[in-house]
Amino acid sequence: MSATTGSSRVESSGAPFTTTNAGIPVRSDEHSLTQGPGGGILLHDAYLIEKMAQFNRERVPERVVHAKGGGAFGEFTVTGDVSAYTRAALFQPGTTTPMAARFSTVAGEQGTPDTWRDPRGFSLKFYTSEGNYDVVGNNTPVFFVKDPMKFQDFIRSQKRRADNHLRDHDMQWDFWTLSPESAHQVTWLMGDRGIPRTWRHMNGYGSHTFQWINAAGERTWVKYTFKTDQGNEFFTQDEADQMASIDTDYHIRDLYEHIRDGEFPSWTLFVQLMPHDDAVDYRFNPFDVTKVWPHSDYPLREVGRFTLNRNAQNYFAEIEQLAFEPSNMVPGVAVSPDKMLLGRMFSYADAHRYRIGPNYTQLPVNQPHAPVHSYSKDGPMRYANPGDPVYAPNSYGGAHADPARAGAVGGWDAGGEPVQAAYVQHAEDDDFGQAGALVRDVLDDDARGRLVDNIVGHLLNGVSDPILQKAFAYWDAVDGDLGKKVRAGVEEKQDLLDPKAEEQANPARRAAQHKA
Ligand code: NDP
Ligand code: HEM
Repeated sequence: MSATTGSSRVESSGAPFTTTNAGIPVRSDEHSLTQGPGGGILLHDAYLIEKMAQFNRERVPERVVHAKGGGAFGEFTVTGDVSAYTRAALFQPGTTTPMAARFSTVAGEQGTPDTWRDPRGFSLKFYTSEGNYDVVGNNTPVFFVKDPMKFQDFIRSQKRRADNHLRDHDMQWDFWTLSPESAHQVTWLMGDRGIPRTWRHMNGYGSHTFQWINAAGERTWVKYTFKTDQGNEFFTQDEADQMASIDTDYHIRDLYEHIRDGEFPSWTLFVQLMPHDDAVDYRFNPFDVTKVWPHSDYPLREVGRFTLNRNAQNYFAEIEQLAFEPSNMVPGVAVSPDKMLLGRMFSYADAHRYRIGPNYTQLPVNQPHAPVHSYSKDGPMRYANPGDPVYAPNSYGGAHADPARAGAVGGWDAGGEPVQAAYVQHAEDDDFGQAGALVRDVLDDDARGRLVDNIVGHLLNGVSDPILQKAFAYWDAVDGDLGKKVRAGVEEKQDLLDPKAEEQANPARRAAQHKA
């Protein structure tokens, strides 16, 4: 049965007739069964009960982050030769692999505007001959925090307050300024690329450092960059605000309509490759997701291109229930000592079991195109079971693990006792250096001007005085000139603002502060 098959059957005349979920013809689409025209509704109107009960269960919980999004399907073709570094089948020269992509905002719920300032999720699922390979990245090469212990707090600070259910810039800046490792990502976010014009006009990044393993078991560190072939384009804050009120779903619509009209977007995959032994004394800790590897140290090398050429026919089945997990790694790819990546190895499959159900991998969109011989069985909504024998090891011809097929385990020399400690500092590690490089070396004067405006606008939206002072120090540390302009911009506009305005904007927080 296809994912789009509904419950209508077709009469011999060709017109469909409505049935219950059990396929039984129903008498009316419009009228409940009552005891006489003015009487009570009868409990044995099984079709009415089915309609109401089914409706009450229409939603699965939205994703706890990245709830608003859209996606499409296509294929990835390898154009370069990286076979010396990874044995993964999907990266071998000339290989074409079917795939799914989902793009999203992070903090907003399902109905929120696509054009709010936020990182964008950039999730890819490759249905490879060796099982599903998921790259669950963002449109930014770095992230706000570098230890999974801080992720939940970070996300809560970006979402809603407990008391009034409002988003609150004060708590956003409170968290950011108390977490200086966020400076690189926040600089990026406040710049032009913090609001991509469309999903077609943004790059994607694997963000983490991963490990590639070749056929001989040799290991190389790797970072992925997916450059948009449409060019990077952005919305200014004003344009984005206008679009948010005109078309909340602008990015979903744009992707859908371009694919529908045959204008297929594509991205070129480049990698940066670091020899395994370089990691120890590279000038930055190469596993810290708040840092990039400058291209001058590790240049981009082309691997292939993916094109999105097919829309979903059934958004709920194919996009809402599409489940990505960084732990889906195929032979030839492995984790690195990036603590965020290691934390994410647990989080996603756990989220899917809760959000969709424990048998989410049996939904067509999540099913590998490679054969599955796992020993999982039963549970809610399970259809296909492995059959006997249901245990391993067994003497009855059941599947058995094949280490040669799975390939070498990735690894590194970790050493030492268990600790709860910061990353090992490398020569040039600090929280602000690469953010400063972005401001001074990558942005031009106009982009720097928009960066100042965006930061000032954000800070003027309900941030209390003590946190404002911390924010000024934060931007001073990123770049002295930027810091001065941010302070001047805020102070100049504060003078123009009605002093009551902020209080009115966030009375609950003010009240809490007064109480404290
Ligand atoms: P390069 O000059 O080699 O690269 C600069 C990078 O910045 C390019 O990848 C470019 O992407 C990207 N970029 C251009 N405009 C913006 C913008 N408004 N916001 C964010 N990124 C932008 O420099 P380095 O490799 O030495 O890195 C310098 C700084 O560039 C880093 O500190 C980092 O902030 C930023 N950067 C670096 C990346 C990396 O992987 N090395 C990746 C992205 C940003 P494109 O080519 O697509 O225009
Ligand atoms: C979605 C957890 C860091 C990118 C999610 C979801 C969870 C989660 C629970 C919802 C999954 C679902 O219900 O389908 C975490 C944790 C992190 C972390 C615990 C850190 C320890 C990151 C980072 C990135 C990222 C660093 C990007 C580099 C995404 C994307 C999605 C997502 C793109 C949406 C996936 C989709 O399109 O379905 N994350 N996350 N996350 N996360 Fe993370």
